[in-house]
This record gives sequence, structure tokens and C-alpha cells, in this order.
Amino acid sequence: MALWLILLIPLLTVADSQPTNGINQTDLQAAMTDMRMRSYYGFVILLKILDSIPNSLQSTDLTFLMPNDEQLSHFSITPGNLHDFILSHSIPTPLALNHLLHFPNGTLVPSSIPSRMIRITNIGREGMFLNNAKIIIPNVCQSSWIKCHGISAALTFGNMVPPLQATEFEDHSKNNVPKPFRHVKRKKAPTVQ
Ligand SMILES: *[C@@H]1O[C@H](CO)[C@@H](O)[C@H](O)[C@H]1NC(C)=O
Ligand SMILES: *[C@@H]1O[C@H](CO)[C@@H](O)[C@H](O)[C@H]1NC(C)=O
Repeated sequence: MALWLILLIPLLTVADSQPTNGINQTDLQAAMTDMRMRSYYGFVILLKILDSIPNSLQSTDLTFLMPNDEQLSHFSITPGNLHDFILSHSIPTPLALNHLLHFPNGTLVPSSIPSRMIRITNIGREGMFLNNAKIIIPNVCQSSWIKCHGISAALTFGNMVPPLQATEFEDHSKNNVPKPFRHVKRKKAPTVQ
């Protein structure tokens, strides 16, 4: 029963915080047709699975970043991390290559998972990189509001923790480390009495 609640709570909070009706299915279908035309079959299948879960795709303002089928086949994707995988391979705003080219070199944009940042690096003739992955086929999605680009690898988010979060984490641990003993003693005293 406890497990059941733990699983349900995130679903409820997601539903609460998003009064919109989710992604526009017409746009999503059009984007998937574009993806299929460039052979991004694996990504389409993952999108379909995710889209079958209510409220998992909440907005049509999206840019998908798609590793190709071969890259996807190497990546470990489980039912538990599918949502994170797709959302971290998307940017919550529709960006064609032209828009990406206008970002200053090195700009960090949040993926649809805000704590996972994507750094846009323009290496001249070498092309444009998003974190570790190079954009190989830009502007795959052309026929709807949704944008998408083919990239050379699954994105990695190794040392991409934003500085603010890093310091918060540090402070937190500094505050907590000396305290547990005192905290435990205080808590135990009343229960003994
Ligand atoms: C979805 O998008 C299409 C075209 O992009 C539009 O015609 C349609 O009204 C939209 N549907 C909803 C429910 O917003
Ligand atoms: C962008 O930055 C990278 C390294 O951060 C550098 O290698 C590259 O030359 C820069 N690109 C331009 C166009 O200045």
C-alpha cells in the first residue's frame, strides 16, 4: 500500500501542476512522420510509449534531440528511466537550427528536466555540439510546431550541475554533518520518558 502511494503521488502532483491538456497530438503525429522520414524509428517508438502514459508530454513547445537507432540501441533505457531519457533529450521551446546558431557560444539551456543543462557549443566548421553530441541532421521536424534534430550520441550530463545547485548542496551537507548526534539525542530523550 505504501508503495502504491509513493507511485501515485508524483502522478497526482504532475496532474495538479499542469492544467493544460498536454501535447497537441496533431503536432506530435506530424513530428513523428518527419522523424520516420529520416529513419529515427527508435526515437519514434520511445515517444509513442511515453505518449501512451497520460500527462507525460505536457506541452507542444518542444525541441527533440534524437540519437539515431544505432546509438539508441547501445543506451540502457528502462521503463523507469524512459520519461527522464526523453525529457532530457528535449528543450522546452521549439528551436530550429537558425535559433540555435544565434545563441552565444557556450550558452547553457535547460532541458525539459531543469536540473539537466545543455551547453550549446559552436565549433565553426566542426559544427554545433549540444553537450557531448554533435547535431548531425538539423531541422528534421519541419511540418509542425515541434522541432527536432538528429544528434550523434545520447546526451551526457556529467558535470553539468548548475553552480547554484552545487553550492546549495555543499551548504546543506556542511550544516548537517556536525549535527546528527545532537539531533538524535534530543529526539530520543522524550520517547524514553
Ligand atoms: C493542434 O495543432 C493543430 C495545428 O498545429 C491545430 O489546428 C489544432 O487546433 C491544435 N489542437 C489543439 C487541441 O490545440
Ligand atoms: C566556442 O567555444 C569553444 C570552446 O568553448 C571553442 O573551441 C570554439 O572555437 C568556439 N567557437 C567560436 C565560433 O568561437
